[in-house]
Amino acid sequence: MKLKLIFGSDTGNTDFVVENYLLYLLNAFDLEVTEVHKLVEKDWMDNSLFILGVPTWYDGVLQSDWEDYFDDFKQIDFTGKTIAIFGLGDQIGYDEYFVDGIGILAKVVLKNGGKVIGNWPRNNYSFSESKALINKDYFYGLPLDQDNEDELTLGRLEKWVEQLKNEIAEI
Ligand SMILES: Cc1cc2nc3c(=O)[nH]c(=O)nc-3n(C[C@H](O)[C@H](O)[C@H](O)COP(=O)(O)O)c2cc1C
Repeated sequence: MKLKLIFGSDTGNTDFVVENYLLYLLNAFDLEVTEVHKLVEKDWMDNSLFILGVPTWYDGVLQSDWEDYFDDFKQIDFTGKTIAIFGLGDQIGYDEYFVDGIGILAKVVLKNGGKVIGNWPRNNYSFSESKALINKDYFYGLPLDQDNEDELTLGRLEKWVEQLKNEIAEI
């Protein structure tokens, strides 16, 4: 099954996670990887399954390429499209804005008719506020904290990718 992975990265942490973990974990898919700053409209048209990778910066702001692209992102019709989102953040240094980018993107996808898969339990993280929360128990996607818990990243991704495969099989 064709899967497009689209990500942005300012200081290389998301890039690291994609290159070292996700490329390997997603090898069951016909995977295409694109960086946000290279996106063209056609990238959304010719596929229905996507994973988005978004770090959060500057007190709840999207990573710079996502921020630059956000006006275009809000115009996309996500009807019939299935999207999973993972986001990098720092739950200690930015505990009031932890992985807000996940929520910012997820809300646009849902508003514009898409389906968001890969919701992830809130327990096992420590922060005070996040726009990535759907409710008190779940995030819209998978938070990863390379700043404080990089030793947990691979295990979290392994579980999340298995969950995605099960959810995709149900569609
Ligand atoms: C100046 C600065 C602002 C940040 N703001 C946030 C934030 O608001 N929320 C959050 O969860 N993480 C925040 N972070 C942490 C980054 O999201 C984290 O370091 C991430 O791994 C960066 O990913 P990248 O290297 O792929 O851009 C911030 C980091 C820095 C240095």
